[in-house]
Amino acid sequence: MTDQTTPKDRVVIFDTTLRDGEQSPGATMTHAEKLEIAELLDDMGVDIIEAGFPIASEGDFRAVSEIAQRSKQAVICGLARAQLPDIDRCWEAVKHAERPRIHTFIGTSPLHRAIPNLTQDEMAERIEQTVTHARNLCDNVQWSPMDATRTEWDYLRRVVEIAIKAGATTINIPDTVGYTAPRESADLIRRLIAEVPGADEVIFATHCHNDLGMATANALAAVEGGARQIECTINGLGERAGNTALEEVVMALRTRNDIMPYETRIDTRKIMHISRRVATVSGFPVQFNKAIVGKNAFAHESGIHQDGMLKNAETFEIMRPEDVGLSATSLVMGKHSGRAALRAKLKELGVDVGDNQLKDIFVRFKELADRKKEVYDEDILALVTATTEGSDRLQLVNLSVTCGTGGPAEAALEMEIDGREASATCQGDGPVDATFKAVRALHPNEAKLQLYQVHAVTEGTDAQATVSVRLEESGMIATGQSADTDTVVASARAYINALNRLLVRRDKTGKDTKEISYKDVS
Ligand code: KIV
Ligand code: ZN
Repeated sequence: MTDQTTPKDRVVIFDTTLRDGEQSPGATMTHAEKLEIAELLDDMGVDIIEAGFPIASEGDFRAVSEIAQRSKQAVICGLARAQLPDIDRCWEAVKHAERPRIHTFIGTSPLHRAIPNLTQDEMAERIEQTVTHARNLCDNVQWSPMDATRTEWDYLRRVVEIAIKAGATTINIPDTVGYTAPRESADLIRRLIAEVPGADEVIFATHCHNDLGMATANALAAVEGGARQIECTINGLGERAGNTALEEVVMALRTRNDIMPYETRIDTRKIMHISRRVATVSGFPVQFNKAIVGKNAFAHESGIHQDGMLKNAETFEIMRPEDVGLSATSLVMGKHSGRAALRAKLKELGVDVGDNQLKDIFVRFKELADRKKEVYDEDILALVTATTEGSDRLQLVNLSVTCGTGGPAEAALEMEIDGREASATCQGDGPVDATFKAVRALHPNEAKLQLYQVHAVTEGTDAQATVSVRLEESGMIATGQSADTDTVVASARAYINALNRLLVRRDKTGKDTKEISYKDVS
């Protein structure tokens, strides 16, 4: 079903993690990661996947084309500025999909019109020409007036009408700078639907940024006003403070269906897994107190809360953890669990893995179960993350570290680099510093460490640590992540993982997405 046939009580979910989300500084994903996330989104029931910005780089073009070829149920959409070559390039990429869509946009507020120096009439003409062109190529066209919430009402109404007449099938109203508030968001959509001729022939969409922390509230208010497409990203990833979070709007609609009676197609049990994968591949860990997907979202610390939970979980939980893929399961995992139990557990957690990946996860699981009394769901999800890696030109073979109060820490490291073994011993200011120095001794590089972050996956001193490392080299950014009960080993793996990603990126040619200007419309 495409959005053109959306029943009035259904909201279609448009996920832009791979486009707007990937625009977060430092969130660039590899080609393989983009394919993986697209497949997870499609399997979860996302209606439309905005897979990238095909004119931005060869890499984006290739990713959108391949995602289009592999798509199952989802509409595959690409972004294009209001320029004919952008739209042609976008069509070349999305046309492989069973259900393609072109999304073209232009900044319509006074601030944005001033950049290409177009008058209102000139911009209106450009909109007419570009939407018509897109519609001649594809019968599913989305048009967005960027910075709509700061565009003069009369002009916004005029250009929306032009876009509809030129053939747009979805009109997206972006709050590009996260400026609007819920009542205004609802009123804007309601007024456009009431006053623009032809508005009842198209779907209105809402695209909210989170600069004032109101993105989810504004998106839901827009639905109250008549929008039937919500644009969002996993974990709310996106420029600056991010976008509306998919998991928040979907769970809000599901939990408060009594006052917001709209359905989505999302299989919510897949939310936790995809959230963790996006956190890993983007290098943006999820904050602990983030709604739905944060580590503490279902944790209860106070005695009164714990007591209430034991008597009736509904006392302090408005949804069940298993609704979002954190199963309160009967399957307790430990060192006696076999491969079949692991596969069943992964299935419960909404994770589908192939035989080879299961083999790798099983090896890591057994190692962990030997070291750790209880293996929690979170541990298993962390293992999945740690065994889903891309390039492996650099590999950790062995690491032993001496540290303590007696003197500088010393790390003895063995690595395999392009198939050859090498070793080095370095001293440093603590075990992690010594280890990173040893990696640099074996693989000299100029990459600057932008972020080093450690999170405990579960409680207790035997908990696994998830380590994130972000590196920057000549404007290229790469992040690596790993998990282990040994924080130093996890740190070494995360660092090596980030270096592997930099190597992949170095080999890539073409302009990076972030270099292209959205404002460059002339
Ligand atoms: O925030 C925004 O305005 C956008 C547009 C390109 C739709 O992302
Ligand atoms: Zn945006």
